[in-house]
Amino acid sequence: RIVYVNGDYLPEEEAKISIFDRGFLMADGVYEVTSVLDGKLLEFEGHLNRLKRSLSELDMAQPPQFDDLLEIHRKLVADNDVTEGGVYLQITRGAADRDFAYPKDATPTMVLFTQSKVVEHAPAAQTGIKVISIEDIRWGRRDIKTVQLLYPSMGKMMAKAAGKDDAWMVEDGEVTEGTSNNAYIVKGNTIITRALSNDILHGITRASVLRYAREAQMRVEERSFTIEEAQAADEAFITSASTFVMPVVEIDGEAIGEGAPGAHAKRLREIYIEESR
Ligand code: PDD
Repeated sequence: RIVYVNGDYLPEEEAKISIFDRGFLMADGVYEVTSVLDGKLLEFEGHLNRLKRSLSELDMAQPPQFDDLLEIHRKLVADNDVTEGGVYLQITRGAADRDFAYPKDATPTMVLFTQSKVVEHAPAAQTGIKVISIEDIRWGRRDIKTVQLLYPSMGKMMAKAAGKDDAWMVEDGEVTEGTSNNAYIVKGNTIITRALSNDILHGITRASVLRYAREAQMRVEERSFTIEEAQAADEAFITSASTFVMPVVEIDGEAIGEGAPGAHAKRLREIYIEESR
């Protein structure tokens, strides 16, 4: 694989960053994942805007090559022959001697790499996924897409240990989001998902899917819901750049609806893929 590091395109074995990089020492960094379908980047603008916001919320500078990001994404997709999958982008505050206070003038580190993956015809889209619920013990600024992903990783491992696929996180009795995706339930013709705040990541896929849902005459309610309400719903699903719309068929051992992917989730997945092409 050819990867990108601070201005250079290199074979992955040759790419290097400092052991003093604050991304490594302090999780002082932000990231984005942009999906690729038919060799084309999806929602690039949306990811770029969220990235700018993450950087500014953390008082982090834009790296020198920031304006070349679209070109860098395209070159990596082409050089690595990615037809389906994604581009991972990470920007950290850069290298500095270890100290909690950060230098104002550090040069940000920027790395990008591609991952080829089956997304459109992922087997899980046919069967749906099973989730468990776990307490949400993450920090209070989940709207910033930081690389502090240890708890979400642990959540995913807890799900796997239970023989399931993923975890939904719950705070004060209400679902915040999935480990790496936004969470939804469907009741009748109504799509219900938590409203935007600092409690969840403002998903780029979420914004598009809610727009498509309204265009398809579905009702949308942006509000919180409990695991019990989700278990009693007609359908459930998640969205993210790496899954698009993915049906959820079981929560904490309870089948949702018929225990199979629901009609709204399937329809929204189709629309999302059609509109992205
Ligand atoms: N995750 N919520 C969380 C906590 C996420 O990590 C993600 C994305 C989302 C969905 O956002 P979007 O629709 O913009 O991808 C919601 C990415 C895919 C990841 O960490 O790999």
